[in-house]
Amino acid sequence: MRYLVTGVAGFIGSQVAERLLPRATELIGVDCFTANYPRAVKEENLRHLRPKPNFSLLEADLGVADLPAILSGVDVVVHQAGLPGVRPSWGRGFSEYVAHNVVATQRLLEAARNVGVRRFVYASSSSVYGNAASYPTSEEAVPRPFSPYGVTKLAGEHLCGTYGANYGLSTVALRYFTVYGPRQRPDMAFHRFVEAGCRGTEINVYGSGEQVRDFTHVDDVVRANVLATEADLPPGKVLNIAGGSRVDVNTVLTLLAGLVQTPLRVTRVDHQAGDVEETWATCDEARRLLGWTPTVELVDGLASQVDWHRTRLEPVLAPTTNGNHDPDLSVVP
Ligand code: NAD
Ligand code: UGA
Repeated sequence: MRYLVTGVAGFIGSQVAERLLPRATELIGVDCFTANYPRAVKEENLRHLRPKPNFSLLEADLGVADLPAILSGVDVVVHQAGLPGVRPSWGRGFSEYVAHNVVATQRLLEAARNVGVRRFVYASSSSVYGNAASYPTSEEAVPRPFSPYGVTKLAGEHLCGTYGANYGLSTVALRYFTVYGPRQRPDMAFHRFVEAGCRGTEINVYGSGEQVRDFTHVDDVVRANVLATEADLPPGKVLNIAGGSRVDVNTVLTLLAGLVQTPLRVTRVDHQAGDVEETWATCDEARRLLGWTPTVELVDGLASQVDWHRTRLEPVLAPTTNGNHDPDLSVVP
């Protein structure tokens, strides 16, 4: 089986590629190293993949690359590339979101149907729901994105649907709900909270902290992707992938304080435009069609992320010979 994984240097894409690699004759990873966080972090995400003989990295932007040539001979596309993040998608940044989430997806779908790809998996998002009319949301709920980012992810999802309906391209969109765990992006809540907890620096909580998320561990998201590459599915299928760990931000902080065994320094700042009050999904369809259910409990998943941060931070938080912590924390992005 020949796989193409886009966004392979990212938080989720790198871990999906690692899990697919043992079953791949060849796995091509594509990434253009967008500037949403430092390249050095993305290079570190690729560390385990680079030495593997059946892995190759192509540094290319899906918005301009010669995709029919890249996809030639590929059986399965797992499309994780995109510009993520709800809150920065307002204002002038929106055109970047359109380029990376809509135009890139359309170009990839067009190439995939022309070369006869057997399965196209798309990384969609809970952000397509916005503030839902009722909870828990099923895939039948009418999408009402609450941020420009959500609009672009929904557009990508609809493009998958149209290529499925018109050309029979076997697309499936997985709607991930706030993913966390090792390698989480530096702009995301758990990453910021854990690093601040370990360093003793300030945590900014947006609004009341009563906003609820159906947090999903990256291992569960990776497993859903692997199953989605091979399950028997009708073209254009959409599936919720949510962790079943439905808690508010304040509760996350309480759990975290217990794990790092330190009181956290929390500041309340303004609610951010685009932030929904709640995400909470039913995953009955994913259970029925993929045989998938979430397996990682929030407290265990958060502990796995704390361990990952501690390993990363070790070189900068280790006591120096004079017994003080190294003051130059800036080397960790
Ligand atoms: P990430 O930023 O860590 O990874 C995305 C990768 O895609 C980056 O390495 C980036 O350089 C690459 N990329 C972006 N545009 C590209 C282009 N035009 N050509 C080639 N490469 C490109 O983000 P992530 O958190 O791993 O998210 C992966 C996907 O999952 C995204 O599509 C995102 O919208 C979606 N998603 C993420 C979450 C979450 O909680 N992390 C939730 C829902 C959906
Ligand atoms: C996340 C991802 O960043 C999106 O790419 C993704 O599409 C989305 O999940 C999704 O599920 O579809 P978000 O839920 O905002 O978006 O994830 P976090 O950045 O981890 O934030 C979680 C909550 O913590 C939010 O309510 C946010 O307001 C809050 N937060 C975040 C803070 O209070 N402080 C921070 O510094 C960061």
